[in-house]
Amino acid sequence: LDNGLAKTPAMGWNSWNHFACNINEDLIKATADQIVNSGLAALGYNYINLDDCWQISRDADGYIVEDKEKFPSGIKALADYVHSKGLKFGLYSDAGEFTCQKRPGSLGYEVKDAQRYAEWEVDYLKYDNCFNKNINPKIRYPPMRDALNATGRPIYFSMCEWGQYNPATWAPEVGNSWRTTGDIKDRYSSFLSILEKQVGLEKYAHPGAWNDPDMLEVGNGGMTTHEYEAHFALWALLKAPLLIGCDVSKMSEDTIRILTNKEIIAINQDPLGIQGHRVKKSGFWFWSWQLWMGQLEDGVAIILFNTSAWERNLSFTFKEVGIVGPATIRDLYQHEDLGVFSNSFSAIVPKHGVVVVKVVPV
Ligand code: DGJ
Repeated sequence: LDNGLAKTPAMGWNSWNHFACNINEDLIKATADQIVNSGLAALGYNYINLDDCWQISRDADGYIVEDKEKFPSGIKALADYVHSKGLKFGLYSDAGEFTCQKRPGSLGYEVKDAQRYAEWEVDYLKYDNCFNKNINPKIRYPPMRDALNATGRPIYFSMCEWGQYNPATWAPEVGNSWRTTGDIKDRYSSFLSILEKQVGLEKYAHPGAWNDPDMLEVGNGGMTTHEYEAHFALWALLKAPLLIGCDVSKMSEDTIRILTNKEIIAINQDPLGIQGHRVKKSGFWFWSWQLWMGQLEDGVAIILFNTSAWERNLSFTFKEVGIVGPATIRDLYQHEDLGVFSNSFSAIVPKHGVVVVKVVPV
């Protein structure tokens, strides 16, 4: 969507993956504090986004009303707090009669809701797909885009129609990002099956308009450290919005190390904005692995992803990724220059893990 936003994929935090409906203003304020204090904000994670369950009803004039038990100071005061930390503030609604948790939806109330968001100085809207009366999303989503646009305030528009109507083929005109699948779960099998569905979508993404394979699960505890490293690196290469989904007050050292990896973040935020793609998927299931690549402004990012059940030595040739050697290679998780290579590269990759390298022809 050409609204001046999301020249590179959005980065920030969203409440859903860890807290679901258990949100309140103290939690959101503490999260904003922690995003700043942990150094995440300085690395680009600047959106603090509420998901479902902040709203409760509509007033007599049809305007949306926040849950005053959970947000006694009101949403405007919360947005002000988040802004005072130098961060941006996001809300959630639904292109249907209700949200997925049965709070009031925006279908038919797009203009009033967008006006209220703009008054509250909201910077980001995630727009969900429940209770949609079986109306085609191509009819339900553009009215909110137009209503947001009419407020004059730049508001990132995150479409969440779960990939049901091939959104990549039409959503680039409607939203800044669009979900490509149903919900991620904090399990390796979920990450893997979502990844599979991203193959071929790369041609639709560009600055201002990104495929969204759903939010990060890093730090939520359901995957191994190697699996989280793979999840984070592949999401970065897919130019996914990088929305942290864990409790940032309880991050382990590994969680912090993964989420603050500047060199992986740089893949995601590369100014060219070219989504990476899968070069090959190889082998019978217990020997299987995947080779991914992404063009960067100053080199090529390569991911060797070991989906087999054992540690393996994996390799790629420069020919299969279109690189003319010699080239320098740097390991982006080890933060180590590995030297100059002339026509191929190989590395030991842990089970369900990745080796991520940047290749720069010399
Ligand atoms: C479905 C969405 O896909 C999730 O990301 C989350 O927003 C929930 N709805 C909230 O109810």
